[in-house]
Amino acid sequence: MIPPMKQKTNIKLKARPQGRTTKSAPKDSAYKTLPLDQILMGDCIELMNSLPEKSVDVIFADPPYNMQLKGDLHRPDNSHVDAVNDKWDQFSSFEVYDKFSRDWLVAARRVLKDNGTLWVIGSYHNIYRVGSILQDIGYWVLNDIIWRKTNPMPNFRGTRFTNAHETLLWCNKGEGFNKYTFNYEAMKAFNDDVQMRSDWLLPICSGGERLKVNGHKGHSTQKPEALLYRVLLSSTNKGDVVLDPFFGSGTTGAVAKKLGRHYIGLEREEKYISLASDRIKQIEPLGDDAIEITPAKRSLPRVAFGTLIENGMIKPGTILYGPSKRHVAKVRADGTLISADSKGSIHQVGAQLQGAPSCNGWTFWNIEVNDNLVSIDNLRAEVRALMN
Ligand SMILES: C[S@@+](CC[C@H](N)C(=O)[O-])C[C@H]1O[C@@H](n2cnc3c(N)ncnc32)[C@H](O)[C@@H]1O
Repeated sequence: MIPPMKQKTNIKLKARPQGRTTKSAPKDSAYKTLPLDQILMGDCIELMNSLPEKSVDVIFADPPYNMQLKGDLHRPDNSHVDAVNDKWDQFSSFEVYDKFSRDWLVAARRVLKDNGTLWVIGSYHNIYRVGSILQDIGYWVLNDIIWRKTNPMPNFRGTRFTNAHETLLWCNKGEGFNKYTFNYEAMKAFNDDVQMRSDWLLPICSGGERLKVNGHKGHSTQKPEALLYRVLLSSTNKGDVVLDPFFGSGTTGAVAKKLGRHYIGLEREEKYISLASDRIKQIEPLGDDAIEITPAKRSLPRVAFGTLIENGMIKPGTILYGPSKRHVAKVRADGTLISADSKGSIHQVGAQLQGAPSCNGWTFWNIEVNDNLVSIDNLRAEVRALMN
């Protein structure tokens, strides 16, 4: 069990395992317990190697993109474009960048729980290289999410298409590690009851959300909180631990705190650590009631249709009705249904009657109670409530 959320933001400056200057992993973990809700200063590879193995639920990584921007960029009116030309984004060659990517991805896999997932965001500059390396290491890509920007920066020179999206790779630890969290039902509810797709339309971080220092951007690549909101809502549960090895201005920490998740931030630059910590201090966590989400069906106990017969909620011989009573079938003692010309499970008969390849019998069939149709899914929910 993870201890209850600490409200205080705790920053560990110079938290590097003592006396270590090499990039090799320390033999013993420097942190016996997790440094929850803290920002550790140092190189993320060394720091991840100092954390206990298989200890975090989700990793969100926004690494340097290696954008290779050359020279200053100006708008047609000659004003200067605030582009990403930070030292931390510069690598001398693809080879050096690939080695760095491999090293942090290996370190991340070690600290990730077996049922955990990794998110990596990138652009065309780096995402193909990172994607190939992470597959080589053993990660399995569950989705590539396209974050389409409503307000991208134009291509000022008019030499290419406007670069209007970034890509998020969402991965588990390998093909066999399938018990990861995906709050499918919550994301569908969030999306007006329509299954959420892998293309997300969201604005870039601007206006009041953009952190400023002396009138300038506090961090050149601050991500929008709305993006992290979807990431954390979909792939974590209350109290989970989210590690961000490239913490920057602390967007992951801010959203994690809001949603009642724990964060661990790793960052090399002190100025970003103080920016992030000031930001996170001001975040009010949402209340326990507010962060409750529609539970994922995968996490609910399985209930067979026969259980409803066994405990007397539905008697053999009962007539089940499809939507608007267009289809009918009779329940048999073994939990199968029989209709005029088909028999089988609630799913099979539902599919056959509609001429459909498949059918979710739980949401298709109803019983009649006082002239009203009541979904058998409601009866299943009653059984589940008794099981908890
Ligand atoms: C793309 S930015 C992350 C921005 C962040 N997602 C946000 O919303 O503000 C990458 C960050 O990683 C940091 N960084 C780069 N290399 C690092 C390393 N080896 N260890 C720790 N931090 C590193 C940089 O200082 C930079 O702040």
